[in-house]
Amino acid sequence: MPPRILVANNALDHGRITCDAFLDVIFQSSTPPSVVLPTGNTPLPFYAELRARLRTRQAKIDFQFLQLDEYMGCAPHSETLFSKWIAREVLDPLHIADRFTFNSAADPSEEVARIRAHMASLPSIDLVVLGIGQNGHIGLLEPGTDFNCAASLVEMAESTWAANCAYWGQDIPRSAVTLGFQELRKAQHTFMLALGTSKAEALYRAFYGDVTPDCPASYLQSMDNVTIIADRDALSLFPV
Ligand code: PGA
Repeated sequence: MPPRILVANNALDHGRITCDAFLDVIFQSSTPPSVVLPTGNTPLPFYAELRARLRTRQAKIDFQFLQLDEYMGCAPHSETLFSKWIAREVLDPLHIADRFTFNSAADPSEEVARIRAHMASLPSIDLVVLGIGQNGHIGLLEPGTDFNCAASLVEMAESTWAANCAYWGQDIPRSAVTLGFQELRKAQHTFMLALGTSKAEALYRAFYGDVTPDCPASYLQSMDNVTIIADRDALSLFPV
């Protein structure tokens, strides 16, 4: 099944379109759906829109949050943690109580085992929302990762690490835990979010290149119910 493509005119529009698509999935479900949400700059307009909608609507938005990735080796209350970022942007403002988050301060192999066991206990995930790295990564699954891998301890690629240091204006750990393809393939729906020309080549390789571990996002070609939500710059290499 080819991906659905939703085209945004700008970042604000991207936030609105992503929010509409997100709420469609949330409200389809009679029980709170399970949702993986990413950090990064790309989803910020979406999260802002979600907060704005919540202020104006009566219906409660509820879901079970599942973390996508996290730095390892940070102090539990470090503000640079992805779990804190997502809490500030979405989970606290929306009063989402059900959160499966990763423990950056835990022993890495025990934490990976805990994450694998929890994710293996879920028959499926209702929605996985992903960004894409300029090198084609999803989550922190970097180029070269085996498509059969489960949640793992990983080393960030140099470019990913540099981009992450830029978020915070300081050095962050180089190692991280991330969900693997074994978990991501449980998604009933997957959203791929991209904004800007810097993502155009990665997005093109993901959906028009070979399905290869060299471009982890190309794995999405083998999945059903994938929605690309991107602006015209990010889609500029797609055939018209
Ligand atoms: P960005 O990061 O949204 O900040 O561009 C996305 C990613 O690297 O996965």
